[in-house]
Amino acid sequence: MLCLALETSCDDTGAAVVDSSGRVLSSVVESSIDQHRAFGGVVPELAGRAHLLTVQPVVARALEEAGLHPLDPDIDLVAATAGPGLVGSLLIGLSAAKAYALAWAKPFVGVHHLDGHLFAPLLENPEVEWPLLTLLVSGGHSLLVLQRATGDYEVLGETIDDAAGEAYDKVARWLGLSYPGGPEIDRRASHGDPHALDLPVSMVNGTLDLSFSGLKTAVVRATQRHPEVGLDDVAASFQAAVVEQLVRKVTLALERHGARGVALAGGVAANSALREALVGVGADRDIPVYLPSRAMCTDNAAMIGAAGLHRFALEGASTWELPARPTWDLVHR
Ligand code: KG4
Ligand code: ZN
Repeated sequence: MLCLALETSCDDTGAAVVDSSGRVLSSVVESSIDQHRAFGGVVPELAGRAHLLTVQPVVARALEEAGLHPLDPDIDLVAATAGPGLVGSLLIGLSAAKAYALAWAKPFVGVHHLDGHLFAPLLENPEVEWPLLTLLVSGGHSLLVLQRATGDYEVLGETIDDAAGEAYDKVARWLGLSYPGGPEIDRRASHGDPHALDLPVSMVNGTLDLSFSGLKTAVVRATQRHPEVGLDDVAASFQAAVVEQLVRKVTLALERHGARGVALAGGVAANSALREALVGVGADRDIPVYLPSRAMCTDNAAMIGAAGLHRFALEGASTWELPARPTWDLVHR
């Protein structure tokens, strides 16, 4: 079964063709990030307009790269992210996907964005060990999810305030670095001293929830108190505190729930220190750690296609009335 998938929940316009064996025939992503940089964050109106201009050409490229006819492709299902995300952006991908499905007389399925992120490591590692603990850390979300089988989720913990990527972006902004801040802080941290600033490791309270906003405030205070500490050292100290919190929570979750593998997902999964630290956690416990490629960490439509095919197999098509859902909890299933 062949699925055309669309992802437009934030600033990336994605289209991909995926088959039900998990093969990615094409995955195209166009980002409008350059338009948002000057504002220090994604501007919803600009993102929506960019999706409107980009969605059709991105779909055309995805079909072409998959070797399919641009007007009458041999597609069995059309999937799109229905939420959570920016409503104006979601609506464009969702409406476009419904239009393609109607035009080709094929079923349509709406996908939860986080469902997509959870499928990303599975696409690249079809033979994972279950139960699988996934640390999903992006610009909008941070959670720990236990999966007993494909699509069978239990949310073990989540951030009580900012997402991990959001903290990276806010700290970067405070330091005068460009948006998005994660990659720049990651780069600088590799040249810095992680002990230069004494920062707290948040949420050492025995729960599996996460918290990053106190750390962000601590960085602001510490840099005001110690203006002599250089940017690389601030970046390294902040990153060390983020990674320490995440590693502690993953370790605690493994102890409590006995997962047999660990996967990383979301934009912050591209972080070099986090990847290295989790590989260490896996090595200590002799369990595999699945690290998605950079393209699979950040928003893309291939992961939406994989989640869409799974949902369609379980529950069938969505209705044409399915609305965009800007806020939408990942349900326990
Ligand atoms: O998953 P994603 O592309 O979009 C959302 O759905 O949020 O994640 C984007 C987030 C941004 O906050 C960005 O700063 C962060 O991922 N990010 C990183 C790195 N690369 C991207 N954070 C830390 N280290 C990185 N190398
Ligand atoms: Zn995302």
